[in-house]
Amino acid sequence: MDLYEKIVELARRRGIFWQSYEIYGGVAGFIDLGPLGTLIKRNIETLWREWFILRHQEFIVEIETPIIAPKKVFEASGHLEHFTDPIVECISCHRKFRADTLIEEKLNTNVEGLSNEELEKIIRENDIRCPICNGELGKVKTFNLLFQTIIGPYSENIGFLRPETAQGMFTSFKRVYEAMRNKFPIGIAQIGRVARNEISPRQGMIRLREFTIMEVEFFFNPKKPECPLIDKVRDRKILILPGELKVKGEKPIKITVEEALREKYIINEWLAYFMVQSYDFVNKLGVPYDKQYFEEKLPHERAHYATQTFDQMVKVERWGWIEVSGHAYRTDYDLSRHMKYSGHDLSVFIPYEKPVIKRKLKIAIKEKVLRETFKDKAAKIISTIKSTLPETIANELKTKGYIEVEGEKINSKYISVCEVEEKISGERIVPHVVEPSFGAERLVYVTLEYAYSEREGRVILKLPKRIAPIKVAVFPLVVRSRLPDIAKEIYERLKEMNLTVYYDESGSIGRRYARADEIGVPIAITVDYQTLEDNTVTLRDRDTWKQVRTPIEEVYRKLPLYFEDKIDFFKLGTPYESKSK
Ligand code: GLY
Repeated sequence: MDLYEKIVELARRRGIFWQSYEIYGGVAGFIDLGPLGTLIKRNIETLWREWFILRHQEFIVEIETPIIAPKKVFEASGHLEHFTDPIVECISCHRKFRADTLIEEKLNTNVEGLSNEELEKIIRENDIRCPICNGELGKVKTFNLLFQTIIGPYSENIGFLRPETAQGMFTSFKRVYEAMRNKFPIGIAQIGRVARNEISPRQGMIRLREFTIMEVEFFFNPKKPECPLIDKVRDRKILILPGELKVKGEKPIKITVEEALREKYIINEWLAYFMVQSYDFVNKLGVPYDKQYFEEKLPHERAHYATQTFDQMVKVERWGWIEVSGHAYRTDYDLSRHMKYSGHDLSVFIPYEKPVIKRKLKIAIKEKVLRETFKDKAAKIISTIKSTLPETIANELKTKGYIEVEGEKINSKYISVCEVEEKISGERIVPHVVEPSFGAERLVYVTLEYAYSEREGRVILKLPKRIAPIKVAVFPLVVRSRLPDIAKEIYERLKEMNLTVYYDESGSIGRRYARADEIGVPIAITVDYQTLEDNTVTLRDRDTWKQVRTPIEEVYRKLPLYFEDKIDFFKLGTPYESKSK
């Protein structure tokens, strides 16, 4: 069994996740999260909210928008045209495959971004056949990954399930901006379900047809792209593979954010800032820094909306490096497209620090005189003059002494040019956007993989305390005397502290510890005979199996600090410390 299989087995057995619709044979690309999986995912979402939103609340707000959107939204976003994968069908058995994946698996080469014709040529030249029946493969076609539905009872009312939450942030950008009293720059965050109709997902939790995305669209002025928080991360070292090194087949390099910006490996400070936040966030999930790096997508690998993209890669045992987040510089692509398709102005007004005085020409029309002379033609003449550039009129008056409109010569008897001062207090711009975007289920898997360990043939899930689904287990050593009553009292008290906690009295204490370890319960409290004498309990550490005796009142007082990593019961020890087991 490889690590992936071990995790899948554990996940199914202990209620973390499993394939959806198992009783009907299962459907690829869909998973159910069980009681523990739901808690783990929620803890990851909570940490993400804290990391990206709460810590940046002066900039970033969270919203929730629908999963279904009308067709127009995805016409505007470009997903109807570009959100596609190449598909090929076996002529004999009619099974369908992703053409690029099929080639990559067979030839071990990257063909991302090649046209259908190029892929088909490779298939023919290398005699790549159906992996199921060895039949001949047909033409390579384009398959759109959007799930389609109908909104309401009218079949022409086509809608799509969103493949990213981002479009909700773009379509509601103006409302949020105004609701936040024109806060700018502004980040809009969203955690929500998305759907992508993958052709043949085969990587369990890594490639799903429906999953949760956690993303921020960060809107800023392209004329002022500096990030005021960049100094906090300027000296941080990151492992990064810029596109220009990637094409030469080089490996990721370790450089500071400062160097990455100076060398223009990363073209925007906000993008760099969020990359470092993501580096730290994934580290908090238990992935060491040397098991992560940022890989730039080459132009043909990038999504249609991006000018620069880095994927945050994490090493996993079965698949090697996988992407856990994408960092895209989307420029004004989305807002401009939505402006064009909706006809709504999504630009923002940026006031200048000091108003600018501009001198400009103005045409004064003596309308009364003009109407008296030109009668019926006057209205047309006036409107033409109004729509002509003042500079053009001034120039013609200067050179010829008149301008010709509707076949009439209009001279200074009817119009005059004067210079006026105009106070300009700002300008309208279409914001640019950078986007850090995470797939939550992938993070659940990655977190589980990095937490998974074995000791003496037993599984220990060394989940970070914040992520552990159950925080405390409470056991009576034996089901005798008042031990269960005291343990239940402790259990009730811990529930009141809003901790996830469980009580277990069945089987030997060793088996109970083992059951707690394999679902990652960080700390177990055992009530024994000594508790009856002095109100102390045994605390046991999941990772080291070390045990200490602590007065129960102290446990209540210190547990919140322990979960915030501010104290360590097991390092500090106590006067009651006993030998590790
Ligand atoms: N919004 C990021 C993505 O679609 O992958």
